[in-house]
Order: sequence, then C-alpha cells, then structure tokens
Amino acid sequence: VVNRTPLIAGNWKMNLDHLQAIAFVQKLAWNLSEAKHDFAAVEVAVFPPFTDLRSVQTLVSADKLPLAFGAQDVSEHVSGAYTGEISAAFLAQLECRYVIIGHSERRTLHGETDEQVAAKSAAALAHNIVPIICVGETAEDLEKHGPSAVPVAQLRAALAGVTGAADIVVAYEPVWAIGSGQAATPEQAEQVAAALRGVLAEVLGEDVAGKTRILYGGSVKSGNIAGFMREPNVDGALVGGASLDIAEFAAISRFQQ
Ligand code: G3P
Repeated sequence: VVNRTPLIAGNWKMNLDHLQAIAFVQKLAWNLSEAKHDFAAVEVAVFPPFTDLRSVQTLVSADKLPLAFGAQDVSEHVSGAYTGEISAAFLAQLECRYVIIGHSERRTLHGETDEQVAAKSAAALAHNIVPIICVGETAEDLEKHGPSAVPVAQLRAALAGVTGAADIVVAYEPVWAIGSGQAATPEQAEQVAAALRGVLAEVLGEDVAGKTRILYGGSVKSGNIAGFMREPNVDGALVGGASLDIAEFAAISRFQQ
C-alpha cells in the first residue's frame, strides 16, 4: 500500500492583500500549532495572489512556519514580451512549492486551453514546482457526457506536459460544485478520482499513479471534509471560500480529529 500524504490546499483566489496575508498566515500557523496539528501527516498549503507571495515567503522562512505555499497560475512562457505574466522562474525564486494550473475560472474567464495547461505544467516542472492540475466538468457536461468523460479528457491533455516520474497533483473540481455550496458526494468524487488515477497509470505508469495525490475541490467545508477523506482515491482538498476563514480552514486541515 502506497502512503500518500494528504494535502489540504487553500486557494484564496483574488482575496487578501499582502498585509492581510501576513496576519492570516501567522494566525493560521498559530491556530494549527496550538491544536498540535501534525504537519508531516497532513500537509497544509496556501495559495495567495501573486502580490502576496514575497510577504508569505519572508514570513514562512523567517518564522520557520510548517506551511507550504504556491501561486494560483503561471505563464507557459520563459520570459520576454508577455505583459502581465509571471514566469515559473520567478515563482521558483520565491520558493513556491506548488502552482495551481488550469483552474476552471482560468479556463472559463480567461479562455485557458488544454494545450496551455500542458505547457504551464511543463514550465512549472522545469523549475521543480509541483503543478496542481485542475480538471472538472460543468453541469451541462455532466448531463451530456456523464461524470468522468470531461475530467479524464482534460487530464489526458494536460499530461502531454508531464514526463516520466514527475511529481504532480491532480485536483478534481466539478464546476457545478465550485462556490455553489453544493459539494459533490464523496461517492461522486471517488468515482472520478478513480478514473483519473486510471489515466495516470496508463500514461505515467502504475508507480507514479500510486504516488500522485488527487484532491477534491468544490464547496469543501469542515462539515463535509471527513467524508471525502474516507474515499481511497481522494487524497486531500482544494478549498476556496472556506480557506479564507482561519478557524474553518484549520478545522478542514484537522479532518482526522
Ligand atoms: O480552487 C478551489 C475552488 O474552486 C473551490 O471553491 O469556494 O467551492 O471551495 P469553493
């Protein structure tokens, strides 16, 4: 049996400026430490806006906080005339462990394609940043194609940017469950996560598939996290709204208690 360390990831989206981020991260670390959270047993990561990353990095390294952090997006380009873009090299310099790639909001609101998701994943990996590759179907997709078809196709396309035994994370976020208060059931999440692990096995091999963490995202809160974590193929959560509340996010991270 492979042991995958659960990952609880907080995607702040466009919330909390760099001053608010400093206060938030300090309090979150304090809250979890007070509760004797075992950070080696359940990894906790925050994903602030780009403009907060330097502050979060400074705080985490100065206070030796056991929290991981990453960015919400990255450019697929190396450098040059790409106004407004942020490269993987920049994120690596700020010691980002992770980067979220292909979030449904980027796919929908910014027209991000499967090809870009693959290229961005490759760019992250080239700088030893773990891509958190997001996939998920809309309510319409679900009705037309069933639960796994779209996420499976999106993952297959993204894996064009991933070679060999690369360290990646996959996040299954049904679009209909994001910010809606209506989470998938643990059984629904497990069904898709199992299909996604099948794709990982087929493309990257059983070994990598066994080691890769698959997260569920979409209206996760302290009251429903335990159900997801009981499923064999769900290895953590990508949390949006509830990650902005310190007590709630800490409670999600401490789902075992
Ligand atoms: O990336 C996490 C997010 O899309 C889920 O959002 O607010 O439903 O937890 P929320």
